[in-house]
Amino acid sequence: MREYSGFLISIEGIDGSGKSTLAQSLAKALMEDNHPVILTKEPGQTRLGKKIRNILQQEKNLVCDKAEFLLFAADRAQHFEEVIIPGLKKSKIIISDRMADSSLAYQGYGRELNIELIKKINSWCMNSITPDLTLYVDIDEKTALERIFRRKQLLTAFEKESITFWKRVKAGFEEIFKGKNNVIKINGLQSQEEVFNEAYSSIIKAL
Ligand SMILES: Nc1ncnc2c1ncn2[C@@H]1O[C@H](COP(=O)(O)OP(=O)(O)OP(=O)(O)O)[C@@H](O)[C@H]1O
Ligand SMILES: [Mg+2]
Repeated sequence: MREYSGFLISIEGIDGSGKSTLAQSLAKALMEDNHPVILTKEPGQTRLGKKIRNILQQEKNLVCDKAEFLLFAADRAQHFEEVIIPGLKKSKIIISDRMADSSLAYQGYGRELNIELIKKINSWCMNSITPDLTLYVDIDEKTALERIFRRKQLLTAFEKESITFWKRVKAGFEEIFKGKNNVIKINGLQSQEEVFNEAYSSIIKAL
């Protein structure tokens, strides 16, 4: 039996796939329909998480690959302690812009660290809680990078990575989500409205 009554949704995909755009529109629409929603993200939702996010994005030169994963994991542990678990206990619908599968794809497949170890530490950080629904925004790395360069935000350390890194991360997501029935793959090349409609109806169906 489930320990918590809330509903946990993660949104995953490579940088520039449209996760944050989708997360915001979903949270707005669900709130307008009177659902109790928490919109959150990894990394950087908690006070500790914001410090970690700054290190990861601005001081990547100080951080080796293993330390990078452990910083994401520390952010995740704090996020579950402060935001996710209390929210689930209060029966909220939680929408998280990225979660554990991002670490598996980026640090596991992208940086080629030990996949099984990452799974184990992720699960420990999350008290073995897994998302009830994952929305995977699927997009090719070329279009995603074009969007990032057009977005007019400072590039993060990841966004300066090579195209071969992105190919590994994307292949990683495909591998992680293969055959999983709680994962909805959405074509990220569609318009924002089409992406939203697909995501929204899959949430309503799953609730
Ligand atoms: N369906 C879409 N079609 C075209 N452009 C889009 C679509 N969705 C989002 N965008 C635009 O693409 C850019 C990247 O979107 P967004 O910031 O939501 O991606 P993200 O997945 O959150 O990226 P990151 O992982 O870097 O945070 C933004 O400028 C956004 O306005
Ligand atoms: Mg984003």
